Amino acid sequence: MSDSLDELFKRVLSAKIFINRDLLRPDYIPDELPHRERQILRLAETLTPILKGSRPSNVFIYGMTGTGKTAVTKYVLNRLMIEGKKKGIPLNIAYINCRHDDTNYRVLADLCEAINAKVPFTGLSTSELFRRFLKTLDISDRAMFVVLDEVDSLVKKSGDRVLYDLTRINNQLIRAKVSIIGITNDLNFTDYLDPRVRSSLGEEELVFPPYTAVELEDILRQRTEKAFVNGVISPEVIKLCAALAAKEHGDARRALDLLRVAGELAEREGSDKVLEIHVRNAQKELEKDRVVEVIRTMPFHSKLLIISLYLLEKEGKRGCTTGELYEVYSKISKSYGLEPLTQRRISDLINELDMLGIINAKVVSKGRYGRTKVVNLIVPSSNLKEAMKEDSMVYSFFEK
Ligand SMILES: Nc1ncnc2c1ncn2[C@@H]1O[C@H](COP(=O)(O)OP(=O)(O)O)[C@@H](O)[C@H]1O
Ligand SMILES: [Mg+2]
Repeated sequence: MSDSLDELFKRVLSAKIFINRDLLRPDYIPDELPHRERQILRLAETLTPILKGSRPSNVFIYGMTGTGKTAVTKYVLNRLMIEGKKKGIPLNIAYINCRHDDTNYRVLADLCEAINAKVPFTGLSTSELFRRFLKTLDISDRAMFVVLDEVDSLVKKSGDRVLYDLTRINNQLIRAKVSIIGITNDLNFTDYLDPRVRSSLGEEELVFPPYTAVELEDILRQRTEKAFVNGVISPEVIKLCAALAAKEHGDARRALDLLRVAGELAEREGSDKVLEIHVRNAQKELEKDRVVEVIRTMPFHSKLLIISLYLLEKEGKRGCTTGELYEVYSKISKSYGLEPLTQRRISDLINELDMLGIINAKVVSKGRYGRTKVVNLIVPSSNLKEAMKEDSMVYSFFEK
């Protein structure tokens, strides 16, 4: 064992791939954000009046994941802070990621914390928390930006009450001013919003389009210079990462992840260059991680549905009809003492699994019997197994 470890240490430590791999992590914000000049300018134009004492409009930012929304927002606010300091205008900024803090209480507690308002651990109602935030904020003549990133998570989980209160807060403030920046990856998010919240949150709207492959190449090239040893990454490797990520809705995060994981695979092999094969394998690894994570966090009935399909295929039934699938699913649900969902609901779940790339569903013609939908699993059973290993109720099916 120690010999093989010696070998591994030697191999990994002698490989000269990265100068600084932290520059490839998703939370690192580079000094320049190529191909976002327009969004940076628009956001800065909207927010800069704060330095002249007026309240900037609220801004609603939307676009797919990995299109630079978080990076651009943090970048502009940072620059604004620096400018404010020069002019002796302190800005209060609360950055809240609502995917992590997805309850009204958490968000309000974060806001209080951002301005050092005292909050006991428990025992306050959200309206009391809001009152304290308001009171402490209004003690002085100051400006505050509230960034609610991935705000759809908050609204889906806890409703739009806090959002409603926040978009109206300026009516109750006498000295202080608040501007809200709401960010979402969910393009249909506004469907969830009360129209009044929608219109006050969206005083200004900013859309982040997906990056093209060529734009992603520029982003990767810029990052490569500082993160990788010179000569380790070839133009072909950058092109490949960019092309793969462009297919994935122009996602810069995916492009950077590919480059990082490919670098790690090369390092592990003791290679002194990142090759296209490392990128291909990185793609497989990331895809597997994505699928496993999606399944792991699914509701129980969706898992049962996947298990049903797995069992059917294990018995050699590749490409079963939705009717056959429903039958097995119902049996399994009942064996757990659960009422099966309706066929209609299951049909929706099947479409969802199809969209997520876990199953493939297609309509086929059955001659004079009309048309029917046929489904296949497209995830290897080893991935299913990994995704469900924490769920002992369903995991037992893999042991049979
Ligand atoms: N124009 C850009 N230039 C350089 N890096 C970028 C650019 N856009 C996004 N990134 C990087 O891609 C990753 C994802 O961006 P992020 O802002 O988190 O996307 P979003 O918030 O839209 O999901 C981050 O690591 C970010 O630094
Ligand atoms: Mg983001």
